[in-house]
Amino acid sequence: MSNIKNDLLLRVLSGEKTERVPVWMMRQAGRYLPDYIKLKEKYSFFERCQTPELATQITLQPIDQIGVDAAIIFSDILVIPQAMGLEVQMLEGKGPLLPDPIKTATDLNRLIIPNVDETLGYVFDALRLTKKELNGRVPLIGFAGAPWTILCYMVQGKGSKTFDEAKAFCYTQPELAHRLLQMITDTTIQYLKGQANAGADVIQVFDSWGGLLGPNDFENFSLQYIRQIITSLKETVPTIIFAKGAWHSLDHMAATGAQGLGIDWCITPQMARQIAGPNVTLQGNFDPAKLLSPIPVIIKEVHAMLDAFGGNHHIANLGHGILPNVPVDHARAFVDAVKEWKLNLNTA
Ligand code: CP3
Repeated sequence: MSNIKNDLLLRVLSGEKTERVPVWMMRQAGRYLPDYIKLKEKYSFFERCQTPELATQITLQPIDQIGVDAAIIFSDILVIPQAMGLEVQMLEGKGPLLPDPIKTATDLNRLIIPNVDETLGYVFDALRLTKKELNGRVPLIGFAGAPWTILCYMVQGKGSKTFDEAKAFCYTQPELAHRLLQMITDTTIQYLKGQANAGADVIQVFDSWGGLLGPNDFENFSLQYIRQIITSLKETVPTIIFAKGAWHSLDHMAATGAQGLGIDWCITPQMARQIAGPNVTLQGNFDPAKLLSPIPVIIKEVHAMLDAFGGNHHIANLGHGILPNVPVDHARAFVDAVKEWKLNLNTA
């Protein structure tokens, strides 16, 4: 039994049928909310991440203002390369830059497997403070990047559509790539155990670039490391894997024991269910760009999505992060449309 008042998300992840479908939005903290944009003028990105009071404040904004059924801690997946000893800059309007990316064995030898309490204790502090401020209103989601997605940034040094240099690194120096992936995995396991210990009720692993790999390479360079992470958390906290574009491997992802699997909008809920099997909870999959449609269209499309998932073993979400230019009332319309859908059923 949890002492969380709105524990829909936790109950759905444990396989229960619930009175309505829970809803949250990837990247809901930050990006599009006016109060967040005001904070950006005063504090740098990593100041916002590293100051527990700021991270907590940002984490709570969508709970208070949008009414989502879960909070996700404000942080970033790139705190892991930082803790391992790589410099990470966040350039306004441009995204991340890692000026000294990993290309050779010598570069790899510069990296450490850090003591997470020393290097990432600020995330644990932020989780503890957020937990306190939430006061049991909704569950708190912790997260990390999947090792493959982290490798993409560590090797490419910046965002990319193809991550060609990261892939070339894996294909030409597989032994080095696996050494790096294992170091990231070992760090991430300690980090996520720390997050659970600090109060995270659910952990999501973001493999944003999993879909750049074919099925065999996805197993080899991504899923075998995600599996280690899920296995190590199994006794501690429920987990969700979001591997964007890697729908071909939903069955293998379900077999890791993760309670939830995120899907993007390029697969139908029916197809995803067919591949993933009957038991796992599916999360998704509204096209984030559709939140730019007029509100009546959003409502209609959200209801169609919920119909397709069928109302059980489902967490309503977007198929990737919310876009920075989404009007706040459109985000709210998305959440409200999910909440009222069950009402429609009840009165039918
Ligand atoms: O869900 C949340 O809002 C919690 C906070 C969160 C951030 N990043 C804050 C952030 C989460 C869950 C992330 C995850 C993340 N970070 C991912 C995986 C999810 C995804 O969208 O694919 C990735 C790939 C990153 C790396 C990253 N961080 C990029 C590519 C960028 C720049 C472009 C962008 O996405 O906005 C960031 C910066 C970042 N991380 C911002 C925020 C709110 C925007 C910068 C700012 O507000 O100053």
